[in-house]
Amino acid sequence: RRLVVLVSGTGSNLAALLAAHEDPAYGARVVGVVSDRAGVAALDRARAAGVPTAVVALADFPDRAAWDRALAEAVGVFSPDLVVMAGFMKLVGEAFLARFGGRAVNTHPALLPAFPGAHGVRDALAYGVKVTGCSVIVVDGGVDSGPIVAQTPVVVEPDDDEDSLHERIKAVERTLLVETVGAVARGGLRVDGRHVRVGGG
Ligand code: GRF
Repeated sequence: RRLVVLVSGTGSNLAALLAAHEDPAYGARVVGVVSDRAGVAALDRARAAGVPTAVVALADFPDRAAWDRALAEAVGVFSPDLVVMAGFMKLVGEAFLARFGGRAVNTHPALLPAFPGAHGVRDALAYGVKVTGCSVIVVDGGVDSGPIVAQTPVVVEPDDDEDSLHERIKAVERTLLVETVGAVARGGLRVDGRHVRVGGG
């Protein structure tokens, strides 16, 4: 199975996928990495792994719809079976969803539907939850609102700040993402309303 990974920053989730795909039994290979921002570490990780990259920056387009169409084109060049958003910080629109809806997943560092959006870790900490975690969802047109594929809980420690909690979440998030993407690549993804089944051929 061909994976295209969308990134915006550090790329620790991408790094985990690049390590996993070295094993032929994983059932999927990262064939392209697309970022909405140039000069991020995730692009360096892709290049170091010999994976082609592309940058589609919003500032280079007259409006979001044009950017969304360009993003769909750039991803389509790699003919993905599955698109994985890994630290990708933009909402996709109609053009992208028309081509990849139902075969794009996203990872989020909170137990959705709690704490969606760009500051899930900070919001969970501020709320005072004792348990948060990470979620892999099917991408839809909303903000982290798609059907849930998999989740892992993470306990909040009393002395946690946003960074320490986010690092602890990221440690389990990359494992959840690698395992979930592998299962989807090997066995498929069936979405029935809000309910998702992975595998089952
Ligand atoms: C991840 O926790 C992701 O869920 C969130 O930001 C972090 C990005 O990490 N959106 P990285 O770029 O994969 O290191």
